[in-house]
Amino acid sequence: MFFRKPSPVHPPWTFKSESFSKLKDSHHPILTSNLRYTLLLSLFLASWLLLLFWFTPFSSATTPAAASHATRKLLPPQTHCDDGTVSVYVYNLPSRFNLGLLTHCQNLNIYTNMCPHVANRGLGQPIPNYMSLSSAAWFSTHQFIAEMIIHARVENHPCRTRDPTKANLFYVPFYGGLHASSMFREANHTLRDELAVDLVRYLQDRPSWQKHNGKDHFLALGRTAWDFMRSEHGPDFGANILLNLPPVQNMSVLTVERQPWKGSNQYGIPYPSYFHPTTVSELERWQTMMTESERPYLFSFVGGPRKGLEKAAIRGEILRQCEESTRCKLLKCGGGGGIKCHEPSVVLDVMTKSQFCLQAPGDSFTRRSTFDSVLAGCIPVFFSPHTAYSQYAWYLPAEEKETYSVYIDEKGEGSKTIEKELMKIPSEKVKRMRETAIKMIPRLTYAHPNASDVGFKDAVDVALVQLSRIVQAKINAGS
Ligand SMILES: *[C@@H]1O[C@H](CO)[C@@H](O)[C@H](O)[C@H]1NC(C)=O
Ligand SMILES: *[C@@H]1O[C@H](CO)[C@@H](O)[C@H](O)[C@H]1NC(C)=O
Ligand SMILES: *[C@@H]1O[C@H](CO)[C@@H](O)[C@H](O)[C@H]1NC(C)=O
Repeated sequence: MFFRKPSPVHPPWTFKSESFSKLKDSHHPILTSNLRYTLLLSLFLASWLLLLFWFTPFSSATTPAAASHATRKLLPPQTHCDDGTVSVYVYNLPSRFNLGLLTHCQNLNIYTNMCPHVANRGLGQPIPNYMSLSSAAWFSTHQFIAEMIIHARVENHPCRTRDPTKANLFYVPFYGGLHASSMFREANHTLRDELAVDLVRYLQDRPSWQKHNGKDHFLALGRTAWDFMRSEHGPDFGANILLNLPPVQNMSVLTVERQPWKGSNQYGIPYPSYFHPTTVSELERWQTMMTESERPYLFSFVGGPRKGLEKAAIRGEILRQCEESTRCKLLKCGGGGGIKCHEPSVVLDVMTKSQFCLQAPGDSFTRRSTFDSVLAGCIPVFFSPHTAYSQYAWYLPAEEKETYSVYIDEKGEGSKTIEKELMKIPSEKVKRMRETAIKMIPRLTYAHPNASDVGFKDAVDVALVQLSRIVQAKINAGS
């Protein structure tokens, strides 16, 4: 451990003198009785340490820690596989559970043809020369495709192991969201649930599952948990029963929206946005641009009305207030304007010019728009605690919510006077919040899956570290 994590003030060569002085201070009889012998032994040990240090596969990862503080930012951070925190095994599932589904990409979603969206392992179609940045990092990524991007990213991840006996984390790359959305209209529940039941049976036959009854296994789903939690009594939203199957309740489940009351094994992950950088310099260039961006609009709203949905009642209010305010930019979706709302450059154009971005609940509590807005350096304004604070503990922590977001209770008086509420915040504070939001961009971003070690911790890195921690605790508690 010591060799892999040299303290930043000691370059590697100081180990020699350090180990020497340690041996010298020792009271071991043989060493204190013969100085020559001590010296020889010390030199031998020191060179052995140096060799070990230079030739371990981790040595390159430790270099940044030894770098001075000023230059550290430019170098890749130490990866967390170093100390064995994360060692993830990826199941090679039969293709009917993941890539095989893509052969029917035109029927994977009852509303849209998914073929353009599943391209490039889920990144979707590239956006060439976005904002005249000559960068290959921009894609028009579909909101419900995180499961594919995560699969590709974990396959290339530096913490991946191909030896299940060395793994502390088992990833089950099931494209459950894509499959669920292809079956929403399937009236026969047995058929709708078939693949989920099949998956569980497959897993239960594996020795690596049996070891801990799946407690060290995880799924990543690109759709909300509600799509996998059909109950016998509730209304039929087209959901299947994946997350209600008892073996799956032993697993951890990553999802873009957790069920806030029952989803104790569900962990919120960001919706994918449009930016998938390969290098830390691409990322930093974008962060600088967002810090310097002119923001003429106090606030903006990208969205449309939702008729008859109680949890989206605030939308009507927001649309009205935004239309009436000279300080609000409205990008209205639905009807004739709907297409623009899925045009990444149009959405980002509004958000990069706004100080605050309103995030009203829609069809469900959460929105992809939250992540687009942080990416654009626009401070999110939430109206329900379930849009972010009860969802993304690893990414948008509730305890720090005042530092990066504004909360206006949808049922409170403030929701009637949004502009006035936002005007109350001193501009110095707005600037600080924006800076905090911009600092969150890396961990809310899905790095390009072809880049193995990107040099910053992205959404997948954060999830793997947190999952390892949770799995360890579960296994300790169970034994
Ligand atoms: C990743 O790399 C492979 C092999 O070089 C290439 O075929 C593929 O198109 C790349 N994927 C993406 C999403 O760019
Ligand atoms: C539903 O599908 C299953 C599996 O194919 C089949 O056995 C069953 O008869 C079907 N039920 C109905 C009501 O059609
Ligand atoms: C879940 O794990 C517990 C403890 O390891 C085990 O007793 C139980 O049988 C597991 N449940 C299922 C459905 O596998």
